Amino acid sequence: MVVLAASICTKGGKAVISRQFRDMSRTRIDALLASFPKLIPANTQHTSVETAEVRYVYQLLEDLYIVLITNKASNILQDIETLHLFARVVSDMCRSADQREIAKNSFELLGAFDEIVSLGYREQVNLMQVRSILEMESHEEKIQEIIARNKEAEAKEELKRRARQLEMQRREQQRRAAAGVGGPGGGSYLGGGVSGYAPISQRFDAPSPPARTASPAPSSLRTPSFKGSGMKLGSKKTKQAELLDALGGSALLSEEISVPNTPDTSTPEPSIMKTTKNPLPTVTPESVHVIIKENISLSLSREGGLESLELKGDMNLHVSDPSLSRIKIALTPSPSAFGPELQFKQHPNVGKFSANKERCIALKDSSREFPVNQSLTVLKWRYTGKDESYVPLSINCWPTPSNDGTCNVNIEYELENENVSLYDLVISIPLPTGSYPAVASHTSEWQLNPSSHRIDWTIPLVNAEERSGSLEFSLTSGDVNVFFPVQVSFVGLGSTVGVHVASVSQVEGGEDVVFSEDASFNADNYLVV
Ligand SMILES: *[C@@H]1O[C@H](CO)[C@@H](O)[C@H](O)[C@H]1NC(C)=O
Ligand SMILES: *[C@@H]1O[C@H](CO)[C@@H](O)[C@H](O)[C@H]1NC(C)=O
Ligand SMILES: *[C@@H]1O[C@H](CO)[C@@H](O)[C@H](O)[C@H]1NC(C)=O
Repeated sequence: MVVLAASICTKGGKAVISRQFRDMSRTRIDALLASFPKLIPANTQHTSVETAEVRYVYQLLEDLYIVLITNKASNILQDIETLHLFARVVSDMCRSADQREIAKNSFELLGAFDEIVSLGYREQVNLMQVRSILEMESHEEKIQEIIARNKEAEAKEELKRRARQLEMQRREQQRRAAAGVGGPGGGSYLGGGVSGYAPISQRFDAPSPPARTASPAPSSLRTPSFKGSGMKLGSKKTKQAELLDALGGSALLSEEISVPNTPDTSTPEPSIMKTTKNPLPTVTPESVHVIIKENISLSLSREGGLESLELKGDMNLHVSDPSLSRIKIALTPSPSAFGPELQFKQHPNVGKFSANKERCIALKDSSREFPVNQSLTVLKWRYTGKDESYVPLSINCWPTPSNDGTCNVNIEYELENENVSLYDLVISIPLPTGSYPAVASHTSEWQLNPSSHRIDWTIPLVNAEERSGSLEFSLTSGDVNVFFPVQVSFVGLGSTVGVHVASVSQVEGGEDVVFSEDASFNADNYLVV
């Protein structure tokens, strides 16, 4: 089979684009296309016509024809299949099949045609493969350009970033070392107030039981992973995404080439997924293990202040030694910042907190026992309102339009609660379509998320020592509203309202009991609107 040319022409037979796979003169192809519409029989469903020399296999693309000109020995069924692939490529690459759009994308289209037919013979490729070849090529080109342009600036940034990262690791190690010597300081990350006798050991990953026992010796934290990034592209990871990743988020990228705009049926485009891996250090559970979890949803106003906040938390007790089933749990004093609108609710069998006394969790009937090897929710708490003292992380996103049609965006975060740490923080800012940011400065990595057209700024760890950061970029946009809502995600270590176990003791005899605590919180819907 030989495909002589693949062309898109008007109904009058004028070429819009044409790719000849065999040696053919311009006049010859023009003549072949000019005579083609006249050959089409009226009112028929045919998809091919023949002359003495050639066969045309064609289909309508809106007001245009896409046509393969083949020799007559060619396998017509295969040619029809090839034609369909050409047509899909066109609708994949062009928003509409009109002359202007085709002409605009002619370079890419001809490139794609060359991937499908080579020297007149069909290549064994499908739409997905054509797509990824082209994405790769145009992306590489684009990246080369950017690299050349930004090389120096990037190198400097990279040095700064590395220095910061090293500094951060060094401090973290120091903190660890300090924690390792034991004593009350060892639990400082949990908000202090920990009694020396009841050391708080490591975190533990609730969903995967083996992790509990796989942890190293108690009282030492496992080094958290610094490279864990919150967001990853899903399974259909193209070369392009890899390139982007490899560049550590410093590349620009054109939406046309990155996002197939017609959904292909073979593999659904995966949405950006969060890695399921828990980034928090693990805790080895003791025979008395307390799990504190909170969910926080909030909308910060871009003007400052809080639009709404909802916080829910609960405390689960897990006792695995029957000799420790009659215990009472003393909580750390309530942080003064939080008033009576923070409501606590005890399990019906658990006594309420008494006013002006240490907050304590114990069974009302002191002769009863906590269940063994079965988790029990002993306490819940909840806050809904607009009190800013509950906000663990503030975000200030500040777009400034300038006269030349560009917009400068400054964005900063700051940890407002020194008793918690945030892991895998991702601050994701929507960008106007067709516009790509020039990043002027950043304190940690960022990357463009091609499928959602957002800039995702990722910070592996935010804590009392490394509490703030900033990102500044500019791009073409006259409208400051496009940068909202900013979406924020993270996994928090600690309790935003300062609920922590101070000590655990036997009801009978009052003897202290070793316990472990695992306190974490999630950002459900954390937005700047
Ligand atoms: C937090 O959200 C998760 C998922 O929606 C839910 O399973 C869990 O019960 C919530 N926890 C609290 C304390 O509300
Ligand atoms: C509780 O679970 C632990 C660990 O799975 C086991 O060693 C212990 O025997 C269990 N105790 C009871 C009373 O079921
Ligand atoms: C942080 O912990 C300290 C010591 O326990 C406490 O005094 C303070 O109120 C806490 N701050 C917040 C915001 O929870």
